[in-house]
Amino acid sequence: MPFSSRMNKGINMSEQILEIKDLHVVYNTDEGTVYAINGMDLSVEKGQVLGLVGETGAGKTTMALSVLRLLPDRIGEIKSGSIRLEDTDIIRAPEAEMKKIRGNKISMIFQDPMTSLNPIMTVGEQIAEVLEIHNRDMTKQQIEERVDEMLTLVGISPERKTDYPHQFSGGMKQRVVIAIALACTPDLLIADEPTTALDVTIQDQVLQMMRGLKEKFNTAMILITHDLGVVANNCDSVAIMYAGEVIEYGTVEDIFEGEERHPYTAGLFGSIPDLTKKERRLHPIDGLMPDPSNLPEGCAFHERCPKCMDICRTTKPEAMQFGTHMIRCHCCAPGIDGRETA
Ligand SMILES: Nc1ncnc2c1ncn2[C@@H]1O[C@H](COP(=O)(O)OP(=O)(O)OP(=O)(O)O)[C@@H](O)[C@H]1O
Ligand code: SF4
Ligand SMILES: [Mg+2]
Repeated sequence: MPFSSRMNKGINMSEQILEIKDLHVVYNTDEGTVYAINGMDLSVEKGQVLGLVGETGAGKTTMALSVLRLLPDRIGEIKSGSIRLEDTDIIRAPEAEMKKIRGNKISMIFQDPMTSLNPIMTVGEQIAEVLEIHNRDMTKQQIEERVDEMLTLVGISPERKTDYPHQFSGGMKQRVVIAIALACTPDLLIADEPTTALDVTIQDQVLQMMRGLKEKFNTAMILITHDLGVVANNCDSVAIMYAGEVIEYGTVEDIFEGEERHPYTAGLFGSIPDLTKKERRLHPIDGLMPDPSNLPEGCAFHERCPKCMDICRTTKPEAMQFGTHMIRCHCCAPGIDGRETA
């Protein structure tokens, strides 16, 4: 049974907003095929904040672009699997339907705020534009009021709506991006490292604001981050990605304090992971992620894993479920280390 199905046992399916099953995504480049997502399973419930963590190149942004069907033309390709947003089959939905979904049902805050801002439009016009596209029955007056409301919500004076992006600091630009992303109160917000470029105080303010919006609108969020403090303070559950797969998933408590741990997560979190520690950054792990155009047999982590066994070099590990906690590692399989066999 795929991991997401196990995870959903007992959960009312109508509460689920997003379900990704056995997703495979490649980039077809002149140098060859890059296997960016390799059998990814993930589900997000309404109102839930899911932290998505993993080293650079793990496939986090590719997952987000796949959900929005915004992979680069001709190069990015969803090979197989399924992505469901409530009743919509994202992979097969007509482009016209995707246009309605983007910015309305799902919004994304991109890694670099400047990629989502138009330098020749004022920030007010940019917020108004999303509202006009998705709310054709709103009057000019209502749109203006909503623009002011969104700017106020992200801590920017509405008087500045006639300014252009270059007139704002990095942190303020990111707030504008967040205001645009939230203008239509999406059901799902994918925030790709939304605060990396901000200083810590502004970071905390922006995250606090996003939490407030979640409370107010029951927005589900996927928060992509390298910052463990951000995960511990803002997320309900966590997915750890490696080489295009979710290799560990659970509640924040499962991931930080669970008895079982994936060796990759143990490496990333350092030796004594603790929800209360001030430690924020991921620990560097010796070695590199495998070349995504030439993935190894067996467990993708085996070349770097301190617990590697013979089986790891030849056989991909299955997802093992411990209540709400999933770990994809042979270490956790019955019969290993004296574990009871099923
Ligand atoms: N347009 C592209 N063409 C070719 N390969 C790509 C393209 N975009 C991403 N990749 C490759 O796909 C893999 C996954 O990349 P992705 O950007 O999804 O990783 P990420 O987890 O978001 O990393 P980061 O933390 O650095 O943002 C990487 O090996 C990357 O080099
Ligand atoms: S399956 Fe093997 S190589 Fe992979 S993380 Fe587990 S112990 Fe390490
Ligand atoms: Mg990325």
